[in-house]
Amino acid sequence: MDQKKAKIAVLVSGGGTNLQAILDAQQSGKIVSGEVVLVVSNNPNAYALTRAANAGVEAAVITKKDCGSQAAFESAILEALAAREIDLIVLAGFMSILSADFTARYERRILNVHPSLIPSFCGQGFYGLRVHEAALAKGVKVTGATVHFVNEIPDGGEILLQKAVEVLPGDTPEVLQRRVMEQAEWQLLPAAVEMISREILEKKG
Ligand code: GAR
Repeated sequence: MDQKKAKIAVLVSGGGTNLQAILDAQQSGKIVSGEVVLVVSNNPNAYALTRAANAGVEAAVITKKDCGSQAAFESAILEALAAREIDLIVLAGFMSILSADFTARYERRILNVHPSLIPSFCGQGFYGLRVHEAALAKGVKVTGATVHFVNEIPDGGEILLQKAVEVLPGDTPEVLQRRVMEQAEWQLLPAAVEMISREILEKKG
């Protein structure tokens, strides 16, 4: 097999700073075993789409509304992935839960970044700023981020990398979110992408 890089699709819904971290890591040589060849957004207004365009990466907008059902939405994504022979899927701020049917097709081939130390503040209903609101409401002094494989349980797949981040007096959810991104997410996600891309290439031989 002479494929030199694992083909990566990044699924996004919003700002796309984690997508940017992956693209920057490719640029700087921290990711060498994989290449982002497709960005899929379930939100036509996501700034992540601009980031993809700026990097010259193909992007597709696939929404549940246009597709009519979760099953049709997932089929459309699967079709886009298959057409490009995607090896690795990265959920980078993708705010839609994928069915067991979907995740079973890409076992140990879907990564997600979650903005807490799983098993704290995770699962259904815990996404984006809500995670940080919950951490502040609980009064934890340490939070962080987790990169894990995605299976049929929301935020329940095998943990690959975690990093702790301090909660500071006076933190707002927005301030805490930014610190968790800067100190944890933007480092962990590219590192995990390189690690799993390399594994995929090695398995292909
Ligand atoms: C990130 O903090 C990511 O960990 C979180 O949403 C944010 C997306 O930011 N994801 C989840 O909560 C998923 N459960 P981004 O669009 O700038 O990467």
